[in-house]
Amino acid sequence: MNESRNFPTVAVAPMMDWTDRHCRYFLRLVSPNAELYTEMVTAAAIHHGDADRLLAFDESEHPLAVQLGGSDPELMTEASIEAANRGYDEININVGCPSDRVQSGQFGACLMDRPELVADCFRGMQASVDVPVTVKTRIGINDKDDEAFLYRFVDTLANAGCRRFIVHARIAILEGLSPKENRSVPPLNYERVFKFKRDYPELDVMLNGGLKTIADVDCILPNVDGVMIGREAYHNPWFLAELDRYLGHREDLPDRMDVVERMLPYIAAQIAKGVRLGSITRHMLGLFAGQPGARAWRRYLSENAFRKGAGIDVVESALAAMRDASQAA
Ligand SMILES: Cc1cc2nc3c(=O)[nH]c(=O)nc-3n(C[C@H](O)[C@H](O)[C@H](O)COP(=O)(O)O)c2cc1C
Repeated sequence: MNESRNFPTVAVAPMMDWTDRHCRYFLRLVSPNAELYTEMVTAAAIHHGDADRLLAFDESEHPLAVQLGGSDPELMTEASIEAANRGYDEININVGCPSDRVQSGQFGACLMDRPELVADCFRGMQASVDVPVTVKTRIGINDKDDEAFLYRFVDTLANAGCRRFIVHARIAILEGLSPKENRSVPPLNYERVFKFKRDYPELDVMLNGGLKTIADVDCILPNVDGVMIGREAYHNPWFLAELDRYLGHREDLPDRMDVVERMLPYIAAQIAKGVRLGSITRHMLGLFAGQPGARAWRRYLSENAFRKGAGIDVVESALAAMRDASQAA
C-alpha cells in the first residue's frame, strides 16, 4: 500500500440510477468511513442543465467524489470548477463505462484508446481545482487486453499529473455486449492490477470488480491501495459496515436499526419537499439481507412505498412485518 495516500481505503462505486443522493445519504449512515461516488454526471449536462440540481448533495456525504463523463477539455474543466465550488472532495473521470450512448458521446471506456485526449481533459481540470482529479478505468478494451495498452494509458495520464487510478479489473467489450454483460462476461484479472501497482508504486491504485466478502478484500488489500465496491454495496449494504469493522474503525459504528431510525427524519424532510417515499426506500431494500425477516422487509417496502401518499409509517410497518416474520420462523 502507498503510505502517503490520504484517501479512504474503501469506496462505493459510481452506479447510474443507484448511487443518487438518497442512496448516498443512506450509505453514509451505514459506513462513516467509505468514500462515496456520485452516479456519472456528464459535463454537457452540467453545462446545459441545472447544475445545482445535478450536483446537489448533503454535507454528511463527505468524503464524496463526483464522477464526470465527457471528453471535451473545456466542458470537463467547467464541470470540475462547478463541482469543486460546491465542495466535492475528488473529481473522477469516467473511462470505464461501455454503453453505446456513452461511446457516441466520446466518453467512457472507449477513451482508453485516446489517452492524449483524456490527459488534455485532466490537465485543464486539475489546473482549475484544488481537489484531486482521478481516473476510473478498465484494464483494456476489446482485443487490447495487455499490459502495454494499459501502461500507455497510465503513462500518459501520470505524465499529465494524475496520481489516482481506480481500475475495474476486466476489459470492456465496446460492441456486442450490454453494459450489464460488460460487468460480468469479460473475466476478472486481478493480477494485472496488482502488477500495475507493483510497477507504479508512486501511484494510488484502487481495485474494483467482483468483491463480495471480507475474505475477498483481505486477499486484495496487500496488493493495492484500496478497494471500490459496487453491486455488493448496493444489494448488501451491511458489507460496508463489516468492512469498517474489519479495517479497525471503531468510532460511531451503527447497527441496522440505528440506520433506519436515523433515516426517518431525512425521509420525512424529503417527503415534505415532494420526494416519493419509494425513491428513497428502494435503496434500503438490502439493509437486512441475510437477517431473519429480511424478505418481509423487502416485500413490504416494495409493495407499499410507491403508493400515493406513502409516508414514514410505511417504514415502521415494514419493520413490524419483518419482526413478525422473524418470530414466526
Ligand atoms: C447499475 C450500475 C450502474 C453503473 N454506473 C456506472 C457509472 O455511472 N460510472 C462508472 O464508472 N461505472 C458504473 N458502473 C460500474 C461500477 O462502478 C463498477 O465498476 C462495476 O459494477 C464493478 O464493480 P462490482 O463488481 O463491485 O459491482 C455501474 C454499475 C452498475 C451495477
